[in-house]
Amino acid sequence: MPDLLGDTITDAVISTLRDTEDARLAELLPALVRHVHAFVREVGLTQQEWARAVDFLTRTGQLCTPARQEFILLSDVLGVTMLVDALGNERPAAATQNSVMGPYFRDDRPRRPDGADISEGVPGSPLFFEGLVLDHRGAPVAGAGVDVWHSDADGHYDIELPDRTDPAMRALFRTDEAGRFTFRSIRPSSYPIPGDGTVGELMRSTGRPLMRPAHVHLLIEAPGFQRVTTMLFPSDDPYLDVDPVFGVKESLIAAYESHEPGTGPYRAHSEGPYTVLRHTFVLEPAPEA
Ligand code: BEZ
Ligand code: FE
Repeated sequence: MPDLLGDTITDAVISTLRDTEDARLAELLPALVRHVHAFVREVGLTQQEWARAVDFLTRTGQLCTPARQEFILLSDVLGVTMLVDALGNERPAAATQNSVMGPYFRDDRPRRPDGADISEGVPGSPLFFEGLVLDHRGAPVAGAGVDVWHSDADGHYDIELPDRTDPAMRALFRTDEAGRFTFRSIRPSSYPIPGDGTVGELMRSTGRPLMRPAHVHLLIEAPGFQRVTTMLFPSDDPYLDVDPVFGVKESLIAAYESHEPGTGPYRAHSEGPYTVLRHTFVLEPAPEA
């Protein structure tokens, strides 16, 4: 049995994978081994560095609970989440593009009627949202499910607010016959991604800011169409160019119109300054089964 030297070990490992039954796994695993070995060779990885990497990954896994997924956050800040999405969801420029899902979606959100106020009393500057969902030919998509969730004016989601157990600033809507949905809420703010774990360590050691630009998340689903997981950012947000999870796309920067009290379309419904956000979402047909 010859010793496996540095230059033969890659082929030796790959040859152990030849009986892999699943065809896709049989493609993925040898490529993974080749890339990991090439990385180790390229940087001349030391034993101490490998031990440190193993410790980092171990602690990343230990942080994961049903309520927290540090590995997905790691994938987000390394751009892997958006890269995988880009490869699987390439769409024409006119279609609504995807962004990251993030960790704050809740499936116990309430279903609310058109026009509902979803702030549930959380204080903030009023936001009036008018959405329109069209197909790729410009026809309305009636009955689409539209999930909406966002942070408050301090950048906190409902699950982060002390003493709040009921959902707020989130709801599920259905588009009407004209493809429209509307709701009232409060204007969200920029906020930091969780920085108290291994991802925070990585961000600090690389001098990267944790702040995400403000946004409203939307998840739109309708039979026969590709699911859209997206978010809309205000054009004046200072963090648009440094989003730590690479979720910003030009087409997702939206007109958050500011209005003084007594002016604009919702003057009768707002005593203070308020924001109107109107956006048209364009769905692509689902691939044929
Ligand atoms: C969010 O927008 O909710 C989010 C996305 C990725 C990581 C952390 C938060
Ligand atoms: Fe978010």
